[in-house]
Amino acid sequence: MHIGIPQEARAGEARVAATPETVKKYVTQGHQVIVQSGAGTRASQPDAAYEAVGATIGTAADALGAQLVLKVRAPTDAELTLIKPGTVLVGMLNPFDAEIKARMDEAGVIAFALEAAPRTTRAQSMDVLSSQANIAGYKAVLVAAQHYQRFMPMLMTAAGTVKAARMLILGAGVAGLQAIATAKRLGAVIEASDVRPAVKEQIESLGAKFLDVPFVTDEEREIAQGVGGYARPMPVDWMRRQAELVHERAKAADIVITTALIPGRQAPVLLKEETVQAMKPGSVVVDLAAAQGGNCPLTVADAVVEQHGVTLIGHTNLASMVAADASALYARNVFDFLKLVIDKEGQFTLNLDDDIVAACLMTKRAEMALEQ
Ligand code: NAI
Repeated sequence: MHIGIPQEARAGEARVAATPETVKKYVTQGHQVIVQSGAGTRASQPDAAYEAVGATIGTAADALGAQLVLKVRAPTDAELTLIKPGTVLVGMLNPFDAEIKARMDEAGVIAFALEAAPRTTRAQSMDVLSSQANIAGYKAVLVAAQHYQRFMPMLMTAAGTVKAARMLILGAGVAGLQAIATAKRLGAVIEASDVRPAVKEQIESLGAKFLDVPFVTDEEREIAQGVGGYARPMPVDWMRRQAELVHERAKAADIVITTALIPGRQAPVLLKEETVQAMKPGSVVVDLAAAQGGNCPLTVADAVVEQHGVTLIGHTNLASMVAADASALYARNVFDFLKLVIDKEGQFTLNLDDDIVAACLMTKRAEMALEQ
């Protein structure tokens, strides 16, 4: 197939959907790969590195005009005009965004949104949410450290002792657990919480303290198990008790990192304004849910703001700030997914009996073609 790798058009997006490592494999499999000039530059992959493994360097129209287009983010309107009907498009395409889905349907694209893959063992190697959240969790700690006006570790110096930073991490999924591991390496003292009781052991094994909000009803216990590895919205009374505990622990904390998400919904509010108000001056909040409305109502998406003496960081694309490794992992996720939709002859194939393929398929075009 002709595989196109365009440069990402969205502002602030430095990642690229294929690296020389994966392009080399595509070329070995007999595909022709066209990389838009500069596509990998911001991810430390110059054009020459792609050429060296057999890719052709071209324009945006060349890359987007291929039979199979590999992207990081959903195409913009301008990009869609360059993609031909019937093109197979693979990327992180926002499966819950009805508007993007409608535009891609209209363009006649066969689109696969990798975020929709099920959280199963077989899908692990193509789990883009995990590969990118892991990086976001790491970077969140470094961004917090950069804005925090004190040391992270406890230090005993000739000029006196410096206390270790106290960190509170809310939501201990992939990003939260990596944030704990990273903050631990920097010497912070960490407390963490999650709705899913299964994470208690994981939090403790990373050297952090688990903040427990005990369940008082069977309904709370049942909802907290989540579904398919994801959390569900918790009952109001549990959220109230969680907010009270968070309020107390946030007052003692220097840095709060929030990562709580519920797929397809607004992120839950975990850090209320009155809690931010009660925090120590100079504290830092990093809200990884900023793109989904934020875990704190004071967060401003894609901005760093100061409120009540607290710095609130709302970067929505932390993974892109570690563009080289984020691209390397993402490109491998894409490569593994393509094994499910490219047959032995190197042609596109659609097997809707495969649960991963069926879950990721976002547009109607392919199903219509199958029915004909
Ligand atoms: P996510 O990004 O959807 O959410 C982040 C965290 O926020 C989750 O741990 C969630 O429980 C938590 N959360 C939601 N509402 C909350 C609230 N009100 N208060 C506190 N915390 C709240 O989740 P992520 O990180 O994508 O994955 C969650 C879990 O899924 C993983 O930890 C893992 O157990 C499982 N998973 C399984 C995989 C597999 O089997 N292949 C692959 C990846 C993840």
